[in-house]
Amino acid sequence: MPGRLDGKVAIVTGGGAGMGAAECRLFAREGASVVIADLYEEGGREVEEQIRSAGGVASFTKMDVTAEEEWNALLTSALETYGGRLDVLVNNAGLSSTVVDDPDSTEGWQRIMDVNATGVFLGTKLTSAAMIAAGNGGSIVNISSIYGFVGSDGGHPAYHASKAAVRNYSKAMAVRLGPQGIRVNTVHPGFMPPMRSSVGMSEEARARLVRAIPLRRTGEVDEVANGVLFLACDESSYVTGSELKVDGGFLAR
Ligand SMILES: NC(=O)c1ccc[n+]([C@@H]2O[C@H](COP(=O)([O-])OP(=O)(O)OC[C@H]3O[C@@H](n4cnc5c(N)ncnc54)[C@H](O)[C@@H]3O)[C@@H](O)[C@H]2O)c1
Repeated sequence: MPGRLDGKVAIVTGGGAGMGAAECRLFAREGASVVIADLYEEGGREVEEQIRSAGGVASFTKMDVTAEEEWNALLTSALETYGGRLDVLVNNAGLSSTVVDDPDSTEGWQRIMDVNATGVFLGTKLTSAAMIAAGNGGSIVNISSIYGFVGSDGGHPAYHASKAAVRNYSKAMAVRLGPQGIRVNTVHPGFMPPMRSSVGMSEEARARLVRAIPLRRTGEVDEVANGVLFLACDESSYVTGSELKVDGGFLAR
């Protein structure tokens, strides 16, 4: 059976853990050559090995999404490795709202905005330029959150600000890049397995949270990966500037 991403080259940032790793594995199973980009070398190498031992094509690059020169190096190496093609970018790397203790910390604001918002800006602008040069169009999927829509009392509010920035920046870029055949969409996961950069949640807080989800459970990484795959592949060829919520109905209230 043909894969839904046969012949395509995809970059996934934060591909060494969590949802990014699930997206890398799914994309490879669907026929893509996958570039796993992450600061987390151990996780990235493990995902690379999992994909290769299952017969897929993948390569890990250690990089920081906040560094423009590291994006340029990543794109040059991806284009060299995979014959000048570049079809899909998933801007998934992110820091949790609880990565800093003090919700009023200016340093915390900057740190979260740098990774979650500026990282997406750099990735989108540099990768879309490479896609335009490669001439095959492309699909960019930017990972926001339910907190790109609403606030909460947990962690640093910069997380919410950064995810709302991703949501609307993506619309501006969908408008700008549409004429070049590049689609830009956002995915808004709800409550998933905790991020590597988050601190633990009490059992009581977790139970309260689950009661607020219409499907009465937290999500699985593969459930998000399936939504990202739809937006990445040609089945969504007329979808751009859209928001896919994968949240068990949390935002339906
Ligand atoms: N887990 C959740 O409940 C949840 C909910 C909604 C949205 N999200 C969003 O989904 C995305 C993935 O979340 P996850 O739970 O899989 O997170 P995770 O922490 O498991 O994985 C994120 C990956 O991003 C990498 N990363 C962090 N900073 C980086 C940087 N500067 N450069 C390169 N890589 C970097 C980390 O090393 C890590 O491997 C994030 O954008 C997150 O904000 C998560």
